[in-house]
Amino acid sequence: MIKNSWYVAANPAELADGRILARTILGTPVALYRLEGQVVAAYDRCPHRFAPLSIGKVVEGSLQCGYHGARFDKTGKCISVPGQRFAPARTCALQTFPAVERCGFIWIWMGDDVAAAGGNTLPETFAIAESSAWDGGNGLFESLQANFMLINDNLFDITHADFVHSDSFAGRQCLLYRTMDAGSEYQNGKMVHAVSERGITLRLLDRNVGNACGPFFRQQVALGLGVPEYDGDIDSEFEVIWTPPSFTSFRVTVNPSGDRAARFSSVVLHAVTPESERTSHYFFRALRDYAHSPQLSAAFVDAMTAAFNQDKVVIELQQARIGVADLFEQAPAAFAGDVVQLRARKLIEKMRAAETTEP
Ligand code: FES
Ligand SMILES: [Fe+2]
Repeated sequence: MIKNSWYVAANPAELADGRILARTILGTPVALYRLEGQVVAAYDRCPHRFAPLSIGKVVEGSLQCGYHGARFDKTGKCISVPGQRFAPARTCALQTFPAVERCGFIWIWMGDDVAAAGGNTLPETFAIAESSAWDGGNGLFESLQANFMLINDNLFDITHADFVHSDSFAGRQCLLYRTMDAGSEYQNGKMVHAVSERGITLRLLDRNVGNACGPFFRQQVALGLGVPEYDGDIDSEFEVIWTPPSFTSFRVTVNPSGDRAARFSSVVLHAVTPESERTSHYFFRALRDYAHSPQLSAAFVDAMTAAFNQDKVVIELQQARIGVADLFEQAPAAFAGDVVQLRARKLIEKMRAAETTEP
């Protein structure tokens, strides 16, 4: 697991109404809550007798332990113990982690001093979630039984869509992915990929895709045009940007062929957070710039959830077959379409090596 990165810890709605959320992140139990409007992420273990603080409650702007009632402020300082004149602030400090609410998610930093970590920031691609031009909704799969890299692999591997998502995301782009070349400019009928220290970008322009695209893309055109169905020809554009260690922005833009004035885009931001070495939380935010309505946002989240339920079956069984050893220690076969997943794993490996060699 890589510690020096921001990770998504929760969807904002999970902390509504004074709720204290318990979630294990990077092997550490964390309690997440809001105090005086600010998100707090604390070690979910009271310094007194180690009861989980997530069974406590928020009282008068502080977190109150549910066992003997010690109270902590948003910095983790113990501010009162029932029946004591002075709180043992020095010996009863609750460990907290940097946490922020940005880009439609609650983020946590569990690594070394965040200020000293060389300006590590949130993935740039997620900034789109702060724009009011996009309607969005969040989804979550908690505690998936798979290492975060298997989920990463899946989220920007388009080739599986023909087999796992034949009812939604299948299409000609799956074959184009398998034959992609290096490059960063859109070329009609070709997928290109570019790799840098900051991540991997895939681009595809595919005009006149007709019926060679899955139902999801055709539906996107129909919703954008505000018609029940669209059965004409379609131009499609894909831009997938993966940022290490585990963030994928997946943009699909479609328009009726030749009509560039009627372009409709959806962007799904995917974030995978390791829970342990072999389990992960998968968060997503599904955004679109057409057909604004809360009902459609909810329907988009439901559609993404249904699709990822198809992935979940495969990925969890895959992890079970892989077992405790790393996949690449077991000599898996290689396909031409694996190229960017392998590059991504190299970038992750580099981050991991940088952490282990730091003083
Ligand atoms: S365990 Fe929290 S106050 Fe005793
Ligand atoms: Fe999938």
